[in-house]
Amino acid sequence: MPETPPPNEASASSPATPVVLERKPRKNEIVDLTIERIDDRGRGIGPVPQTNLAIRFANPGARIRARVLGRSKKRLDGRIEEILDAGPHASPARCPHAGVCGGCALPTMEYSEQLRQKRRLVEDAVERAFTGRGLDMGKLPSGGIQDVVAAGKLEGYRNKMDFSFGSKRYILADEPEGVDASFGLGLHAPGLYQKVLDVDHCAIAFEGASEILRSTRELALERGLSPWDLKDHKGLLRHLVVRRGERTGDTMINLVTSERSAPEIDALAATLLERHPAVTTIVQNITTSVASVAYGEEEHVLFGPGTIQDEIGGKRFSISADSFFQTNTSQAEVLFDLVREAAALEAKDALFDVYCGAGTIGLVIGEDAGSINGFESAPTAVRDARLNAERNGVDHATFFEGDVLKTMREALDERSLRPDVLVVDPPRAGLHPKVPAQLIELDSPRVVYVSCNPKTGAHDVAAFVEAGYELRSIQPVDLFPHTPHVEAVFSLVKSRGTS
Ligand SMILES: C[S@@+](CC[C@H](N)C(=O)[O-])C[C@H]1O[C@@H](n2cnc3c(N)ncnc32)[C@H](O)[C@@H]1O
Repeated sequence: MPETPPPNEASASSPATPVVLERKPRKNEIVDLTIERIDDRGRGIGPVPQTNLAIRFANPGARIRARVLGRSKKRLDGRIEEILDAGPHASPARCPHAGVCGGCALPTMEYSEQLRQKRRLVEDAVERAFTGRGLDMGKLPSGGIQDVVAAGKLEGYRNKMDFSFGSKRYILADEPEGVDASFGLGLHAPGLYQKVLDVDHCAIAFEGASEILRSTRELALERGLSPWDLKDHKGLLRHLVVRRGERTGDTMINLVTSERSAPEIDALAATLLERHPAVTTIVQNITTSVASVAYGEEEHVLFGPGTIQDEIGGKRFSISADSFFQTNTSQAEVLFDLVREAAALEAKDALFDVYCGAGTIGLVIGEDAGSINGFESAPTAVRDARLNAERNGVDHATFFEGDVLKTMREALDERSLRPDVLVVDPPRAGLHPKVPAQLIELDSPRVVYVSCNPKTGAHDVAAFVEAGYELRSIQPVDLFPHTPHVEAVFSLVKSRGTS
């Protein structure tokens, strides 16, 4: 599908004649290049004189005629003008929005190549982090970085989708001039965060998610409900978040709005329920924040229990609208099995599950441990974690609510707790700069760092290695096919002779 050139970019219709250069290409020039790899945003990277060009939706091995758009931090950005040769790793697009939607950055890349590229991203991040700290590469695990564990499902794997409403719809190149673009519901076009691409079908979302999405758009338009304007910070509808318990079929609709507007929202919820009887709960979250996040300050349960349930590793979890829960249930089970293996828990071991969300990792792997100690800042997640422990008959779990820096002190100083196994699973931003020292001070014999961002994960893990931990293994796992995201389990043990 052709893409409307983003503002300030050259028109796609200008003649695309390549220049052969010995100097660095300039804005708007056309160059031919071969893509060698992807970066951590999934952009294809290929060499041009004196630098590299980063191009969205360009697969490794492809020969591309590209227009230079301008400079980003380290390299030039470009856009595909023509695919001269799709290369050996191209596969048919899985979705009608491929190449326009920012949801999947690798929509036409063969899966085996995605896995190869993800492994390389982890490898590069680790090498950079080690070099950055002046660490000897001999401290890398003897087996190197393992191949990425592939995902079982390549479509319909996401149990949660966060769609945005917007008052500036992204206009496709084949739409007529003057078309109404004042309402959009879907995902952002890459790099255009003010604009929302109308998504009709999302191939990676759970079955049924796209139907709810289409109904919501139709009803909101029919009833004249206003979408959020990202610039003026006005409008009622902000996000539509849909969630499904993969193992239970429980389905949640979460309408994130700027105000309560009870008559409109209650009526919308009632019609959605009529049309989608499989929905088990509808909640409304109200947020006054100008940031584009789907978290609410005030929650109203409009139908059902306000939570859904799902299962991982034989344990049942209750999930609130605001709680983090792994978005690929079956693959999270694979991830947790790897964490269990690395943790090698023994009876009586004290397990620290830091950044525990709704308590999932601790409750799944810590059944036979001496104690499970979860640390989490989101109050709803802590509430869910406590309930999850109770419902699963786990009576040796304690959950500490608050910022990890504060709650860790509480566990250490007030309760004199010390971990035998420390599992750390932070958000993409990685650890706050003060946290590694605090975790290292715990002196845990075993540490399992679960990373969802190779860059920050490798950076944090290098701090443990510098402090004397031995990095035993690095096992990447794919939970997000067709995106550049990759999880990795870093297994560390306290080296003998290290105090
Ligand atoms: C990647 S999630 C991991 C959740 C959990 N381990 C799981 O697998 O479901 C990261 C979690 O860290 C929590 N978090 C973020 N910043 C935090 C902080 N400063 N202190 C404690 N928890 C934090 C988030 O609320 C989120 O639940």
